[in-house]
Parts: sequence; C-alpha cells; structure tokens
Amino acid sequence: MNKSSEKSATAWYDSPLYYDMVYADYTPKETRCIEGIMKKHGPVLDGPMRVFEPACGSGRLLESLSARGHVVHGFDLNKHQVAFAKNRLKAKGLKGRVWRDRLQDFSLPKGARYDVAHCFVSTFKYIDTEAGAVSALRRMAASLRPDGLLLLGLHLTDYKNTPPDHERWIGRKPGVRVVSDTWSAPADRKARKEAMRTRMRITEKGKTRVEETLWDFRTYSPSELKALLTKVPSLRLVVCHDFHYDLTSTRKIDMAYSDVLLVLRKA
Ligand SMILES: C[S@@+](CC[C@H](N)C(=O)[O-])C[C@H]1O[C@@H](n2cnc3c(N)ncnc32)[C@H](O)[C@@H]1O
Repeated sequence: MNKSSEKSATAWYDSPLYYDMVYADYTPKETRCIEGIMKKHGPVLDGPMRVFEPACGSGRLLESLSARGHVVHGFDLNKHQVAFAKNRLKAKGLKGRVWRDRLQDFSLPKGARYDVAHCFVSTFKYIDTEAGAVSALRRMAASLRPDGLLLLGLHLTDYKNTPPDHERWIGRKPGVRVVSDTWSAPADRKARKEAMRTRMRITEKGKTRVEETLWDFRTYSPSELKALLTKVPSLRLVVCHDFHYDLTSTRKIDMAYSDVLLVLRKA
C-alpha cells in the first residue's frame, strides 16, 4: 500500500464504535443476503464458505459471518477500523484475518481464493478514478475462485435529477446514542463527484459532541457503471437487486431506484 495516498476523507471512520452502532441494524439483513445469494447463484461449496470483504470497516460483517461458521478475510485503509475489527473477532473468540490495505492496489494473503467477495454501502465510490476502480474490480475478480461471486452495492446517480439528499441513521447502546446525518450535494457530472458530509452527534455520559467529515464520492450513472463493467470481462453480471436485499425482487441497471446491488460471477 502506498501510504502517501491515504486521504483524510475517511476521518469519521476514526471512531469505529460509533460508525458500527449506526450500521448495526443492517448487519443481519446483509448477512442473510450474502448467504442467500450464494445459495442461489454461488458455486457448490465443499467446506465452509470463504468470504472476502475489501474495505471491511469495523468488521461488523466479518463478525456476523464468522459467527455463522464462514471463513472471513478483510482489509481496510483506516488503521482504527482494522484494529477494531481484529479486536472484535478476538473478543468473541472468532477467527478471521484482517489487514490494512487500499482498494485500488491491495494484495492478498498467499494462496487466498474466496467463494464470495462483497463491498456494500457505496464503499466502492471512495475510489476516485476510473483507473483505480478498474484495478479494484480486477483485483476483486482475481481474489475469487472460478464461479465465485462479487457482490457490489452502490448508489447510482441521475445527473438530470440530483437534488441535495439527506439520510439519518440512529444507533443506540447502553449509555451511548449516536445520530448520524449524511448529506450529498448535487452531483458534478463533468468531475464525476458528489460532495458528501457526515455529522455524527454522539451523546455519552450525559455529554454531547459532534464529529464531522467531508469527502467526495465518485459518481456512477447507470451507463457509467455498465461502461466500467465492460472493462473487467472476467466478471459477468448475474442479477441485480437493491438495498432492500429482497432476493425475490430483481431489477436492471437503471434509475428505477438509486441503490443497486450487483451480483457478478467470476468467469
Ligand atoms: C461505509 S464503510 C463500509 C465498511 C464495511 N464494508 C461495512 O459494510 O460496514 C467504508 C469503509 O471504506 C474504507 N475505505 C475508504 N476508502 C478506502 C480505500 N481506498 N481503500 C480501503 N478502504 C477504504 C473506510 O475506512 C471505511 O471503513
């Protein structure tokens, strides 16, 4: 990993506990979704499922999948997330391998090959160039066994209709409450960027403080996403769902709904 290219845009991930609380509600749904998609479209397994999570964050999905008997590997750019993910596995007596690396140029542990790799919640949009995105997809494809699946979830952009957007998530655990607000500015079509802002209001031991992070996401219209996929022919589109993770409901890569979950198979 080239450490000089690390960006401060991931600063809100310096507080893994709060990030983790905010996303916790999604974990069971996403875990079931990964298992369900593998059952339906994945290769026949002759042992525990080997799962790879590029940009694994706090390790919430590493933990839930490891607890269900799967072998889990993942990496993240942010050292606080990596430490948190390692510690949570250790604390629960679970196995898993976590390291620090970058989506654009990551390496795999020697001999590692996975049945499934997943990258949800628009994490892929942190990659800020087309070359970086192609490199990440090629590396993810190379990480998979033949017929292995890559599950990629991201928000699409309709450049003709990009009003400012706002989403709120609330996380709670005894003694701590986190309200996370995320805003996206209208997309800049030429630069292929949308300015993002997250503000976490953390109330702990009766005191409230605010942590704010600004960053740019790279944008993908349906046609930009399709064009990217043509550059990685070793990945074939099997089916698309959305962030409701309802496997009975399929869709196309279009603007019918902005969140898309691609199921790609390694050729
Ligand atoms: C929205 S979180 C998702 C984490 C995890 N996959 C999950 O679903 O909870 C995005 C993660 O991407 C990481 N990240 C951002 N840019 C990255 C990059 N270029 N390479 C590796 N990780 C990156 C951040 O540190 C953060 O942990």
